[in-house]
Amino acid sequence: MEDRRFYYCASLILSISGLVFPVMVGSIGINYGQIANNLPAPDNVVPLVKSIGATKVKLYDADPRVLKAFANTGVEFIVGLGNEYLSKMRDPEKAQAWVKTNVQAYLPATKITCITIGNEVLTFNDTGLTDNLFPAMQGIHTALVNLGLDKQVSVTTAHSLAILEVSYPPSAGSFRKDLVGCITPILNFHAKTNSPFLINAYPFFAYKSNPKQISLDFVLFQPNQGIVDSKSNFHYDNMLFAQIDAVHSALASLGYSKLPVHISETGWPSKGDADELGATLENAKKYNGNLLKIICQRKGTPMRPNTDLNIYVFALFNENMKPGPTSERNYGLFKPDGTPAYSLGISGTGAVSANTTTTTTTTTGAPAPPSPDNSSTGYLSISAAVKERCCCIGQLLFPLLLLNYLTFRLAF
Ligand SMILES: *[C@@H]1O[C@H](CO)[C@@H](O)[C@H](O)[C@H]1NC(C)=O
Ligand SMILES: *[C@@H]1O[C@H](CO)[C@@H](O)[C@H](O)[C@H]1NC(C)=O
Ligand SMILES: *[C@@H]1O[C@H](CO)[C@@H](O)[C@H](O)[C@H]1NC(C)=O
Repeated sequence: MEDRRFYYCASLILSISGLVFPVMVGSIGINYGQIANNLPAPDNVVPLVKSIGATKVKLYDADPRVLKAFANTGVEFIVGLGNEYLSKMRDPEKAQAWVKTNVQAYLPATKITCITIGNEVLTFNDTGLTDNLFPAMQGIHTALVNLGLDKQVSVTTAHSLAILEVSYPPSAGSFRKDLVGCITPILNFHAKTNSPFLINAYPFFAYKSNPKQISLDFVLFQPNQGIVDSKSNFHYDNMLFAQIDAVHSALASLGYSKLPVHISETGWPSKGDADELGATLENAKKYNGNLLKIICQRKGTPMRPNTDLNIYVFALFNENMKPGPTSERNYGLFKPDGTPAYSLGISGTGAVSANTTTTTTTTTGAPAPPSPDNSSTGYLSISAAVKERCCCIGQLLFPLLLLNYLTFRLAF
């Protein structure tokens, strides 16, 4: 325990010795998908989100019940405009009406900071949909400008990693050639409006399709030799970082190396079909547990060592009505009854265990909001563990920052 703490702190000192001035500890984002018929009422989801230390939530719609439930919680929201509405947003009146109803109505009590226009649109090869993407983004942005909200709410879209033609080695990352024409104006839009480029990245898919070639430890952030990108000479000890840097390379190849890249989805399923190798509870626990640690450590990728990872874990709940293979319904950190799907193993003290769960359930099957300071519930244990980890780093951060700052001032 002490050793590990020392390790984290030592790595922190190394990571900020380059005169970087981070202002807060890394913050965790979570995707709140609702393709299910058994999820708790949004009011009961607030404590679950807080229990994993998440300060940012991403929705796939703008569910009024969720946006109301999270009013005055300080939690930041990305709301989504579904692919089926893209064509309508070419009409400025409809775009403005959408923003008024789904965003403006909840501000400022609910901290909506971003709108994703469509999800993985370019992956479908649907020309109609693709042609509507950029105009819809513009339409919503113009509506925000007209309502005076463009400074507080940004507009983006979430892409799948399949928009890359080359993702390995990371330095060779490039976009699919047939997509360059439609991606370029979108990148230009990001640069002009200061909005992030969003990518959904799943090392699980890479492993599942090539389990013999890919080391499980490399995809699960476990200790391993890693790989060296022979062109950049960067060493990668996990696949997610390699995927993120492949996106950085692809953006740089089109002249957009400065665009911030956020990971709008990543996760690991705790269950899968017989042919879905790697989809196990143990692996999900390792992937997501290690991922949360990395976020708290405020690690950056080899190409962007001083930039926070902005990651939204997929997902909050197992969603029983998602189509596709079994894995699709088993990405949740929580079961629909609000108990953890598995221990995240964050604390290193054994305090985090699904076995400690004594969550009381109401008649609707939803978890009752736990009282503060009561650590008898599984999800509060997770919370305490995450906080402890982040606090260790946070407490150290400020004195070090001050020192760094003073050194900087004296030197220049
Ligand atoms: C879309 O087109 C690309 C490039 O032609 C192809 O590689 C990909 O498999 C296609 N995707 C789908 C979902 O059809
Ligand atoms: C959980 O607790 C039960 C009884 O309290 C015990 O039988 C079981 O082995 C425990 N499981 C784990 C994973 O610790
Ligand atoms: C926490 O809640 C449980 C169940 O509601 C209760 O039995 C226990 O006494 C509480 N512990 C504290 C420290 O409040």
